[in-house]
Amino acid sequence: MRVLDPDGCPPLEELVAQHVALPEARSGGRAFLRLNMIVSADGGSAVAGVSTGLGNTSDHAVFGALREGADCVLVGMATVVAEQYRAPTTEGLQIYVVTSKNDISGDPELFASGRATLVLPESAGPVPAGVPELRVGKSRVDLAQALEALPGKVVMAEGGPTVAGALVSAGLVDEYFLTVAPRVVGGDSGRVVRGPDADPTPWSLQHGFVDDDGFLFLRYGRSSAATGGA
Ligand SMILES: NC(=O)c1ccc[n+]([C@@H]2O[C@H](COP(=O)([O-])OP(=O)(O)OC[C@H]3O[C@@H](n4cnc5c(N)ncnc54)[C@H](OP(=O)(O)O)[C@@H]3O)[C@@H](O)[C@H]2O)c1
Repeated sequence: MRVLDPDGCPPLEELVAQHVALPEARSGGRAFLRLNMIVSADGGSAVAGVSTGLGNTSDHAVFGALREGADCVLVGMATVVAEQYRAPTTEGLQIYVVTSKNDISGDPELFASGRATLVLPESAGPVPAGVPELRVGKSRVDLAQALEALPGKVVMAEGGPTVAGALVSAGLVDEYFLTVAPRVVGGDSGRVVRGPDADPTPWSLQHGFVDDDGFLFLRYGRSSAATGGA
């Protein structure tokens, strides 16, 4: 039994660094996958169609630190379009966008930057000139194959709930970072991980802290993968 202790707390920057520290032992043979999501206190995943309304400064710090420690981002096309993704400021970071088709019209600016790779199935049509692509799976993207195509890389999955659900149910998530925002937002945005049933075996809480605004930051690991953090 433990309590979250508000005394003797290091500064935010230090806490965030501890929170996102990469474990030394990582999955071999495929990318190491860290899923990061934010949820409202009533289980919502978005406000007015975007998750940006849920976060705060500390959440941005955790998000930024996770990106800094990653080689690639993996994200669904619906999130890219809803949140109008831009070329990442982190040097060398590539955004891998999961989609079933070759349509980049929802966010042409991101794809024009050359910093976004379309992850699409073999059945999809040819991608526009200059847009990098990764083809995995026949009529749907095979996410396991996508991660196998990125061996040794650290991949940060940024959702949305559909992609998160597919990754979780396929057992591909090595670490799960969850921010619980002290907001009760109502609406019908639904859960942050959505899709087929997943293995209900408990995860291991590796690290956690509460910031001055009452945002709760949790880091869970699979027992075989997570060794760092707290
Ligand atoms: N709370 C949070 O942390 C958080 C994080 C991210 C996003 N969000 C919110 O979540 C919402 C979007 O999430 P979402 O669940 O609707 O969508 P999503 O997971 O972002 O993207 C779903 C799309 O990804 C593609 N896709 C997923 N799996 C695929 C597969 N196996 N093969 C081929 N394509 C695949 C499809 O794109 P095509 O339709 O192009 O084929 C599908 O429509 C937005 O409101 C966003 O703001 C919240």
